[in-house]
Amino acid sequence: MSKFPNNFFWGGATAANQFEGGYKEGGKGLSIPDTLTLGTKDTDREYHYPIDESKYTYPSHKASDFYHHYKEDIKLLAEAGLNMYRMSIQWSRIFPNGDEDKPNPEGIAFYRNVFEELKKYNIEPLVTISHYELPLGLAEKYDGWANRKLIDLYVHYANTLFTEYKGLVRYWLTFNEINSLSMPSGGFPVGGIKSIAGGHGMTTQIEETSVQMSTRFTALHNQFIASARTVNLAHAIDPENKVGCMIAGMTSYPLTPKPEDMLAWQEKIQQGLFFCPDVQSNGEYPYYMNRFFRENGIVISKEKGDDEVLKNGTVDFVTFSYYATGCVQAKEEKKSNGAINAFGTPNPYLKKSQWGWNIDPVGLRFYLNEFYRRYKKPIMITENGLGAEDKLENGKIHDPYRIEYMRQHVEAMSEAIKDGVNLIGYMPWGIIDLTAASTGQMSKRYGIVYVDADDQGRGTFDRYRKDSFYWYQQVINSNGANLE
Ligand code: BG6
Repeated sequence: MSKFPNNFFWGGATAANQFEGGYKEGGKGLSIPDTLTLGTKDTDREYHYPIDESKYTYPSHKASDFYHHYKEDIKLLAEAGLNMYRMSIQWSRIFPNGDEDKPNPEGIAFYRNVFEELKKYNIEPLVTISHYELPLGLAEKYDGWANRKLIDLYVHYANTLFTEYKGLVRYWLTFNEINSLSMPSGGFPVGGIKSIAGGHGMTTQIEETSVQMSTRFTALHNQFIASARTVNLAHAIDPENKVGCMIAGMTSYPLTPKPEDMLAWQEKIQQGLFFCPDVQSNGEYPYYMNRFFRENGIVISKEKGDDEVLKNGTVDFVTFSYYATGCVQAKEEKKSNGAINAFGTPNPYLKKSQWGWNIDPVGLRFYLNEFYRRYKKPIMITENGLGAEDKLENGKIHDPYRIEYMRQHVEAMSEAIKDGVNLIGYMPWGIIDLTAASTGQMSKRYGIVYVDADDQGRGTFDRYRKDSFYWYQQVINSNGANLE
């Protein structure tokens, strides 16, 4: 017997900068990810601009070449039975520098074609307006989100999308993993704040002064305001529109029952996990951030009327990515590479993925309950999956490890639904293989569809169904009843 509601969204997710390629085609401008080089599990991606393709590999340039494969890819998603597809639009394809008045017609046409193709198969798009992809022009000219001007530029961009795609798209997310800007590593690649460290990769450790922290939290505040204004705009343009927030579900446990570890854990989940959705769903800054701001000398530059904007622009649904969990102890050692340790101290009870991420399906049920208790709004898991190396042999990919990971997480979801959580959708990450955000590697594969390309962007780019493709197809066909 299925434990999933009849209208459950069984989907899959991608992000344009990691999937689309065609970085110089169709009038697209450059964006920050186009300047980030290939990293590995142990080495950071670096910022190299001007671009020098003779020296460095830039994963976003080709990515999975969805730009030229979208028809074939959408057909595969339909064959797997998906009724929702989470994707993002590249701001730099619509406004090449980010601040033009008029959009680039070729960019508008490209996404229209994609949405029309999805409609053919009754697949509902879920569109992330900004997924780790800021036009480089906005970083160079304005210092990214540190500048309040970006609010108007973003709202203009969102307005263009809502108007152009009215009737084709109803579900939107304003910012991918908005809480990554609450962490120092998000300053440049996410916030485009060049003044902090001149440009750096996704996992680089940054030591900040109080002034720099103030700049970063002001940038985050600007995103909150942009997001809240966008929610209202979306509703005004089409009452059918539903807008959600999205955070990195960097979830954790206290390492021991020591009271100091409990307190350290509480502080970590408040600041790292709940702060952003508290603002975006409840419409105000939570009390617990005041002390943190005060003691770190953080001053956020706000304007009169901002509180009102936040109050009136709360989201319709909440979403998060969920890959792994970690532990928190009162005394955290310094970590060398955020790609592995972003989640905290490893949990001795959990197994790790090849990239060192702890696998924790039970934690998903726990956090689904925590989120629902806190926000009482429909929830979607907008990313989840196992990044692992796959082997293509005679046109086949046997990936029992991925099936096992997904099965356990779907089981945890069904338990949470039994608990009473209003979970409305599941979007496994990188449903078709794409390049990793943290390392840029194609070899860190998440998909149920294999893309024949390597880390350097060499290969045929042909698509192959993995064993997990057939498994997920059967899960969807049975509405979650058959997980074998
Ligand atoms: C999330 C991002 O942080 O995690 C995605 O929203 C990213 O863009 C995903 O790809 C998985 O991380 P990674 O580094 O393995 O790609």
